Amino acid sequence: MHGQRGDAPEGLFLTFEGPDGAGKSTQARLLRERLQACGREVLLVREPGGTPIGEKMRELLLDPRYTEMTVVCEVFLYSAARTQLVVEQIRPALLRGVVVISDRYSDSTLVYQGLAGGEDLEVIRKINLWATGGLVPRRTFLLDLEAEKGLLRVRRAKRGIRSAGEDRIEQKELVFHRRVRRGFLELAVREQERICVISADTDASSVHARVWEMVIPLLPVDNCQL
Ligand code: TMP
Repeated sequence: MHGQRGDAPEGLFLTFEGPDGAGKSTQARLLRERLQACGREVLLVREPGGTPIGEKMRELLLDPRYTEMTVVCEVFLYSAARTQLVVEQIRPALLRGVVVISDRYSDSTLVYQGLAGGEDLEVIRKINLWATGGLVPRRTFLLDLEAEKGLLRVRRAKRGIRSAGEDRIEQKELVFHRRVRRGFLELAVREQERICVISADTDASSVHARVWEMVIPLLPVDNCQL
């Protein structure tokens, strides 16, 4: 159906995924700048968040005080934030022909709560489908990095920032983050058409160059293809 693969009618839906510290937010920003330089309107959103309700969910989800939060509770909160984001921001933008870049989307729930968190994948798939109305990104860039390196980057970036301790998810053990990395790679094998794996173990401009190479064929010929 038109729009179900994130390209209704001229819009383009792209997502970045990967373990913590892989550099998704930097890459999402670089891609936005590149597309804007080509004259495309871009909407950059992050998950969880991007709407007033979603930002409240984000506070709840990442608050390190809520150590008692169950994985099922996480699934519902991430999905609740997502449905608001899709309805309030992503779908309307795609319908206007905007390029939408999301820093995380449904794959994160499949991996963090499912493959790494141990909850039932089929249930999560159904909830994802319900929350998004079946909206799937046209392309997903999986920034791949060893869990240790990612966590080190997160800690370095936060060092010196007052009140920027680890959030609830970052506090989880290294084995969990290793499962996250493996989970994303497993997903990429299952969905090779959509998910492009890019090594994040290099500098930001090299990663961006790889991303851009893959975005070019998705743009109309008059959008910076030369
Ligand atoms: P961020 O650090 O990329 O902003 O994401 C916030 C954290 O939330 C990150 O550790 C991954 C986690 N997360 C999930 O566990 N499940 C999800 O569905 C999403 C979107 C994020």
